[in-house]
Amino acid sequence: MRLFIDTANVDEIREVASWGVISGVTTNPSLIAKEGRDFKQVIEEISSIVNGPISAEVISEDAEGMVEEALELVKISNNIVIKIPMTSEGLKAVSVLAKKDIKTNVTLIFSPLQGLLAARAGASYVSPFIGRIDDIGTDGVALVEQMAEMFNIHNIDTEIIAASIRSPKHVIDASMAGSDIGTIPYKVFKQMLNHPLTDSGIRQFLSDWEKAIK
Ligand code: E4P
Repeated sequence: MRLFIDTANVDEIREVASWGVISGVTTNPSLIAKEGRDFKQVIEEISSIVNGPISAEVISEDAEGMVEEALELVKISNNIVIKIPMTSEGLKAVSVLAKKDIKTNVTLIFSPLQGLLAARAGASYVSPFIGRIDDIGTDGVALVEQMAEMFNIHNIDTEIIAASIRSPKHVIDASMAGSDIGTIPYKVFKQMLNHPLTDSGIRQFLSDWEKAIK
């Protein structure tokens, strides 16, 4: 599973990018709003840090408006992916953009059938929301597993981005369920990195080393 970071905070992106582990970024209007900065400037800065797909979400609710926004956003950089919500207008916009070779990420996917529709409309990526499904007492990872199997059986090349990841366990489960990509918040990257036995192991190695050379 490839790793994307799910944030619009450029400091977080810079730090995790410096580890050499991320191959893309996803944002959404809530994450952009949290930064209190100009949308296009943020996307431009992110695309200068990460050389992989950067999802920037449209806010129009009609297909025409979505396509218009998309055509502006793709001017920012050649790695912009247009994030579009899973609605009938969204699907229309995806199919128009696919014909123009513009990549899209259909977001707010909560069922395998929504995933199939998005894929058939020509989406490059679909984003099932694991955490939000778990929040309502259903199994988010099971959705990823079902979609991965369905896409595999039918040779659908739309990639699955496991989104709304809330914990390191979600990352493990999404990767074992066959997700192509996991988009992970900064906090979860830090949780994945750290382990108390690594810390105590380093302290032990260094203290043994110090004792030996004295
Ligand atoms: C990413 O594509 C989504 O916008 C994001 O993962 C949503 O996460 P949340 O459910 O924690 O807001």
